Amino acid sequence: PVDLYQNSAAHRSNSPGIDLNNPLEVNVLLEAISESDTVDWRAGPIINGQLRPGSLQPLHSPADGTTIGFASDSTGEDVENALESARQAQPRWDLLGGRARADTLERVATVLAEAFYSLVTLIVREAGRTLADAIAEVREAIDFCRYHAHQARQQFGEPVTLAGPTGEDNRLSLHGRGVFLCISPWNFPLAIFTGQVTAALAAGNAVIAKPACQTPLVAALATQLFHRAGVPGDVLQLLPGDGKALGDLLLPDPRIAGVAFTGSTATAHIIQRTLAERNGAIVPLIAETGGQNVMLVDSTALPEQVVDDIIRSAFLSAGQRCSALRVLFVQDDIADTLLHTLTGAMQELQLGDPSLLCTDIGPVIDRVARDRLQAHIERMTKEAKLLARLSPPSNLSGYFVAPHLFEIEHLSQLNEEVFGPILHVIRYRAEALDEVIDQINACGYGLTLGIHSRIRGFAEQVFQRTQVGNTYINRNMVGAVVGCQPFGGCGLSGTGPKAGGPHYLTAFAIEKVRSENI
Ligand code: SER
Repeated sequence: PVDLYQNSAAHRSNSPGIDLNNPLEVNVLLEAISESDTVDWRAGPIINGQLRPGSLQPLHSPADGTTIGFASDSTGEDVENALESARQAQPRWDLLGGRARADTLERVATVLAEAFYSLVTLIVREAGRTLADAIAEVREAIDFCRYHAHQARQQFGEPVTLAGPTGEDNRLSLHGRGVFLCISPWNFPLAIFTGQVTAALAAGNAVIAKPACQTPLVAALATQLFHRAGVPGDVLQLLPGDGKALGDLLLPDPRIAGVAFTGSTATAHIIQRTLAERNGAIVPLIAETGGQNVMLVDSTALPEQVVDDIIRSAFLSAGQRCSALRVLFVQDDIADTLLHTLTGAMQELQLGDPSLLCTDIGPVIDRVARDRLQAHIERMTKEAKLLARLSPPSNLSGYFVAPHLFEIEHLSQLNEEVFGPILHVIRYRAEALDEVIDQINACGYGLTLGIHSRIRGFAEQVFQRTQVGNTYINRNMVGAVVGCQPFGGCGLSGTGPKAGGPHYLTAFAIEKVRSENI
């Protein structure tokens, strides 16, 4: 029998990454970053393993505006060539079987690990992520390769023999659906790209990868590394460019047999509607979207631990994680003490150049993101109570948004996800816990939830009564680890299944049953 949950070190281990306490490793990393200015980073459509030079446009660092490379968008001809080659290549890739595909994905893990420093550097430069975030991201990408290789061997290796009457042989097997479209976001330009692509490949699909238009360089480098590791060029095609233009061409095309998307809830709705309007086969959408993530702190919680976990969950990564904390519910007995400690700790945060080891918070991704966050800060300044704010760095011209802390009355004051380092606080009375749980469930999102309490019964009660994908108790609520904290939500937060979990690959597959009278 297949044990989907096998996860011990004997079966699989997570990537060790870089040891930031080891000066030798840190020096190599800092050297790679200082040399990155001289690298000619290029991105564009990669069709059948060839990077197609198109009309190249400069890309700028979100931290300081300098030019970091050039990218070109995919044309209609690129879309047609990629789709047709992928369609033709897919049956061969599927017939290889789960074990052979797993071997290839393990080679991808090795090649990504060999390119660790270049990948970290490019993530920092293109996405403005801090060194710590970029290192964690490359580790996560490597983990996805190994985890999906492991799952491919278990689930797509041999057919499972099923019970039946004497003289009948029943077998269940999993196969690719065809060509999967993987649409990945800019906030984890490598890890989520790799998670989607390796899942689709492991399950026997060919892939059209459409990365976020803010981060084509990371996607192009990753695609080239996949090909170098042995993924055939026709099986993985990269189509960077504008989401709407490419979506209009790709989503209605009958050659697309499934879609994996990570991004906003609004875009997921558009994709779902477009797929529903297609004639012909009904195709699945696997969507991971946003959250209105809450942390509940009762009066028994340990203030120092809570503050550290709030800072990490709400402000690090500039709040640009779908798992990030947006609303803190604090029991009124300890609210003043906790908020005093929190505002003090916020003052210690270092905003600035993401390539420096001392930086805690880098820029947000672009001007649109910064302006949207500034508009929210202006609205909150009028409608809520400002408790704390930091200042953006004065020596950098990038898209910085400083952490802000506002006190509000009710969760319904936030009508949409605020994707940045802005935290909202609500005081609650112990007697009003039911009403707090109603507020959480009524918002419609269900991604992450934090609980801080030394009463296990309290944590269990909140966990049982909230409709949320990932609940974190007495710890921070970000940075789900592949295979350890399968990640994903429900409702407005996505369709499931969870990324990095045992049920993910089957969503990319079809099931076939073979019954033979022997
Ligand atoms: N998986 C990420 C996290 O857990 C969010 O995308 O923080």
